[in-house]
Amino acid sequence: MTRPRAGVTALGVYAPSKVVTNHDLERIMDTSDAWITTRTGIKRRHVAADDEFTSDLAFRAVEDLVRRHGAEALAGVDLVLVATNTPDALFPSTAALVQARFGLKAAAFDLLAACPGWLYALSVAQAYVVSGQARRVLAVGAEALTKVINWDDRSTAVLFGDGAGAVVVEAVPEPYGLRSVVIGADGAGASHLHLRSIGACLPDGTQLTDKLYMNGREVFKFAVRVMNTATVEAVEKAGLTSDDISLFVPHQANLRIIEAARERLGLSSDRVIVTVDEYGNNSTASIPLAIAHALDAGRVAPGDHLLLVSFGAGLTWAAAVLTWGPWASAESARQSAGAFAGAAPVVPVGAPAA
Ligand code: ACO
Repeated sequence: MTRPRAGVTALGVYAPSKVVTNHDLERIMDTSDAWITTRTGIKRRHVAADDEFTSDLAFRAVEDLVRRHGAEALAGVDLVLVATNTPDALFPSTAALVQARFGLKAAAFDLLAACPGWLYALSVAQAYVVSGQARRVLAVGAEALTKVINWDDRSTAVLFGDGAGAVVVEAVPEPYGLRSVVIGADGAGASHLHLRSIGACLPDGTQLTDKLYMNGREVFKFAVRVMNTATVEAVEKAGLTSDDISLFVPHQANLRIIEAARERLGLSSDRVIVTVDEYGNNSTASIPLAIAHALDAGRVAPGDHLLLVSFGAGLTWAAAVLTWGPWASAESARQSAGAFAGAAPVVPVGAPAA
């Protein structure tokens, strides 16, 4: 018996309305628009309000999903996953807050795998759907990273932003859905990127700090290497070649890293989506937001093979080939004008439980 394939049938996104430009940062720290633009490609980032936290961003992304696809898109969701590095609380999980907010009859748990967390969530969703343990999985990436940035450290403060993305994953017919997923980790690089929770130090003695610490040069080298190996593996596992890839959707951390990966894959510039200029690095929200931008720009059609890849703290990485279906189309995206950047909140959905 052939196993069903899991695919994305609905998508929603959210970016906070508050925008901080490079010129705004010039006024509060020793940096320049020229430095940030040439070293990273970032021009602006969306920053959560003082009273806006990761669960709020996740709610907004799911509300956008409902706006695009209707409340029936959530009907029968029996598992909620939230990939985040900045949960409101260690417990309850942010996923449980999403489950309650939308009245879902579903299990719920958070998943922490740094920036590739949302791709890890797709991998978990796929496993649950293909094994029959879940029918429909709501997989959210939501991040309020600007709350944990050291604003006195110019080498990290300029890089990050906030946002959220949500998708529904369920069984889909051929030829659509996830053709391959690759996930990996190398904890030997833990000291390069960290943020304290309740521990004092890492096993190698590295002192943990209450604000995000990153060794940018080490992470850069790791990122360039792993973006290449993970994408090659995902494309091969999908039984495709890079010529078959319609759109490359890399983690939006740094334009130089994106360009290096694109060139290694031999893809032309029109086959990569770049949103790092608008959002900076918003971690688990980065890839769903980039997909939404591509959809809204009419750059994704049913049957297109999307190559997704991400890297981050852990160190971790993930890549996937996703063949886009007719459900989360540009048509439905257009219906949600204003979904980005602080759209008005919609009424709680209370979607029918299964
Ligand atoms: N403005 C002006 N100058 C700066 C700034 C700034 N914001 N930040 C650093 N500099 C200075 C440095 O002090 C240094 O000056 P010096 O030469 O006098 O010592 C100089 O610029 C060069 O610094 P580098 O660190 O060598 O700059 P680099 O070209 O490596 O760029 C960057 C730094 C952008 C952080 C890069 O290393 C990078 O992108 N690394 C990967 C980061 C990343 O993708 N992280 C994702 C993590 S995902 C997650 O899991 C959270």
